[in-house]
Amino acid sequence: MEPDSRDLIVPGDGLVVLIGPAGSGKSTLARATFAEDAILSSDAFRARLGRGEADQSVTAAAFAALHRELDDRMSAGLLTVVDATSLTRGARRTLIRSAQRWNRLAIALVLDLPPEVVIARNAGRGERVVPEPAVRRQLAMLGALTDEGLRREGFSTVRRLGSPVEVESLRVTID
Ligand code: CTP
Ligand code: MG
Repeated sequence: MEPDSRDLIVPGDGLVVLIGPAGSGKSTLARATFAEDAILSSDAFRARLGRGEADQSVTAAAFAALHRELDDRMSAGLLTVVDATSLTRGARRTLIRSAQRWNRLAIALVLDLPPEVVIARNAGRGERVVPEPAVRRQLAMLGALTDEGLRREGFSTVRRLGSPVEVESLRVTID
């Protein structure tokens, strides 16, 4: 079958970086699309090292552990999906460097949904509701990101999903 715009080919030893605000559906998409072992979630590292998924006091330790595990996985040639907001250039740089160190391709998967959808999803979830002003700041950071800018940072592919329908119809092939 011909690949079309719904298809995304991900190298079996590559890095997928999800980019999106709290409530944009990163964890939901990651779980629906990739093997559980391949997903490194900043919230899961917070839960392991702190008092739960929302424990901001262990942010530094959580990311240090995530980066170590990512680097080990990249070294071993294992497909890895990073589930964190990754909205700052600095956050992305560490991830891209790890992929580049081991000659792996980095793919950006940007959850660029309408702000009202993100705000409503965040407000509607049972646990870990992020304060709305923080989500709005994250939406503003997302708005400043361009595909071209992300490519310049070192992503070989940038896929921007602009609506829930686009997220639903994404088909990932691991090559
Ligand atoms: N959600 C939904 N439909 C989707 C995706 C997500 O209704 N297609 C809901 C989820 O059930 C959840 C909320 O939206 O209640 C946020 O989704 P989640 O995947 O947790 O978003 P994340 O981007 O992972 O948020 P965070 O950065 O806070 O972890
Ligand atoms: Mg999440």
